[in-house]
Amino acid sequence: MSDAYKVIDHTYDVVVVGAGGAGLRATFGLAERGLKTACITKVFPTRSHTVAAQGGISASLGNMGPDDWRWHMYDTVKGSDWLGDQDAIEYMVREAAPAIIELEHYGVPFSRTEDGKIYQRPFGGMTTKYGEGPPAQRTCAAADRTGHAILHTLYQQSLKHDAEFFIEYFATDLLMDEDGTCRGVLAWNLDDGTLHRFAAKQVVLATGGYGRIYFSATSAHTCTGDGGGMVLRAGLPLQDCEFVQFHPTGIYGAGCLITEGVRGEGGYLTNSEGERFMERYAPSAKDLASRDVVSRSMTMEIREGRGVGSKNDHIHLHLEHLAPEVINDRLPGIAETAKIFAGVDVTKEPIPVIPTCHYNMGGIQTNYHGEVLTLRDGDPNSPVPGLMAAGEAACVSVHGANRLGSNSLLDLVVFGRAVANRCAETVDPNEKTRPLDDNAAEAAIERFDSLRYAKGSTTTAELRAEMQRIMQNNCAVFRTGEVLQEGIEDLKKVWTAKDDIKVSDRGMVWNSDLVETLEFENLIGQAMVTIVGAENRKESRGAQAREDYPDRDDKEWMKHTLAWLNEDGSVKLDYRPVMMQPMSNDVKAIPPKARVY
Ligand code: FUM
Repeated sequence: MSDAYKVIDHTYDVVVVGAGGAGLRATFGLAERGLKTACITKVFPTRSHTVAAQGGISASLGNMGPDDWRWHMYDTVKGSDWLGDQDAIEYMVREAAPAIIELEHYGVPFSRTEDGKIYQRPFGGMTTKYGEGPPAQRTCAAADRTGHAILHTLYQQSLKHDAEFFIEYFATDLLMDEDGTCRGVLAWNLDDGTLHRFAAKQVVLATGGYGRIYFSATSAHTCTGDGGGMVLRAGLPLQDCEFVQFHPTGIYGAGCLITEGVRGEGGYLTNSEGERFMERYAPSAKDLASRDVVSRSMTMEIREGRGVGSKNDHIHLHLEHLAPEVINDRLPGIAETAKIFAGVDVTKEPIPVIPTCHYNMGGIQTNYHGEVLTLRDGDPNSPVPGLMAAGEAACVSVHGANRLGSNSLLDLVVFGRAVANRCAETVDPNEKTRPLDDNAAEAAIERFDSLRYAKGSTTTAELRAEMQRIMQNNCAVFRTGEVLQEGIEDLKKVWTAKDDIKVSDRGMVWNSDLVETLEFENLIGQAMVTIVGAENRKESRGAQAREDYPDRDDKEWMKHTLAWLNEDGSVKLDYRPVMMQPMSNDVKAIPPKARVY
C-alpha cells in the first residue's frame, strides 16, 4: 500500500504537533535548549485557535490590588469542583507570574494601568482571601484580543529560534512501537500531496480541543481534537472527557465568543423581565460566578420561560451603561463582533447570548511535566515513552470538572514551557534518534488510503451534522441518564454509518473532503468517550450537571475517568484517584466543601 504513495522521511529530537499557544511555546523552548525541533501544523501558526482568546491570562501579579498565588490556587481548586489535581494546580499558579513577565519581555502588548503596569481585570470565580475577600483583578489583558497578541508574539519567538515549521501538514497518526513507545508521527502535506514520516525521541501533541463535536461552539472549525483522536487510535485513554465547558456568552445563533471580560468590566445579564437574575443564583459573585454556574442559571431562566426574544430562548448581555472609553479601550473587539454577528450596537442595545460549547476540560492524560500517562499493570500514572501533550489537548488535570476563565491561556504557556524544560532534561541531542522500521507507517497509510477511496453513499458533512445534533441535544448543559443513553444509541448509529462514508475527491493536493473526513474520525471518537463518560458519572460536579443526580458525590466519584475507545466504537472505562496533595509544603491541601459563589 505504502508503495502507492511518495513518503518522505525526517528525523528530529522532538516533533511538536500543533502551533497554537502551547505548541509554539514548546517549540521555541525546545529549539532554545538546542534540541532539533520540528513543528507540524495544519493551519498557518497565527491562525491557530489561540488567536480567538479574548479576555486574558490569569496570574497573581497584584497590579490592581492585593493578590497571592495561594488565593489563585484556592480559586482554581474550587472552580474545578475538587476534581483538579492539586500538585499540578500549584505548579501552574506558581509559574503564572514568571510566565507573564516572560511574555511581557517577549513583546506581548498588554494593556496598561495609568502607572504603566500590566492591566488586570476581574474574571469569574477569581477571588481574594480564599473566597472571603472581594473579587480578584487577576486576568492580564491586551484589550479583548489577548490570545491574538500572545500567539503572534510566540510565533515571532519561534522564528527567532531555530525551529523548523511544516505548515499546512495534517498529522494523521502516531507511529507506535509494539512495546507502546511512541516513535514518531505520519503527516500529509496538503500543498503537494506527499506523505511524511517524522521520527523523533519525543512527540508533543498540542493540537487543541474538540469543541466541534457540538453544533454550536466558540471553537474554530479546525478544533477537531486531532491529537486526542490519534491517542485513542493508539489504544491509549483520554481523561475526564465528560466535562465540557459551556461559555455563558456565545452570540445567539452565530456562537461567536463574547468575552467574560465584558462582565469583568461591569457588564451584566438580564432575563425577559429585565431582572439581573444572577443575584438570585450567586448572591455574592453574581455575574462573575464560575462559568458552569452562570451557564446553568441562564439555562434555568430560559427553561422557566424568562428567556428573551420571540422564542424566549436566549438572554441579554448589557454594556450600554459602560463609559465609551471602557468599550473603546478594553472591549473594542467584541463591539465589532457584536455588530457583525448580532447586528447590535453595544453602546445602545444588549447583546443576545446563550451558553455555547467553549472548552474541553478532558483530554490526553499527562503529569505536570507534560508526559502522557496511561494505566499499566494497575498503575494509572505510567508514562507512555516518547509521548507528551500540552494545552487544551491535554488533561493535566488543572481544570478538573470546570475551568476558570483566563486559566486556559495560562495553561498553554506554562505547560508548553514545562514540556520544553522536561525535554531539556530527558532528551539527549547527541544521541541518535532511532530510525523508524520500514513498515512503521503501514497501518496509518492503509487507514488514510481507505478513507481517500471511501465509496459509500453518506457524505462526511451529513455524518458530522448528525453527530453535532446528537451532542447538542443529548449531552449539553443539563443531562439525564435517559437522554444521555438515547444519545449513545444514536451516536452508535453514526459510528456504524461510517462504513458507508463517501469521499468524492480522490486527489492528494488540498483535498478538503479528505481533511474533513480525517477530522471527523477524530471527532466521533471523542464524542463517544464524552457522552459515555457523562452517562457513566452518576453525580453533578462542575460542568457535569445531572438532573437525576443533582449532588456532588465525593465518596463515589471524586476520581478521574479514563476512557478507551474500542475499534467497534464501544468505550471501556476505568478510573484514577484525584491528586489531593499539593506539589510542595508551602501550601496545605484544600479539602472539599460545598461550592457556592
Ligand atoms: O471569556 C473569555 O474571554 C474566555 C476566556 C477563557 O476561556 O479563558
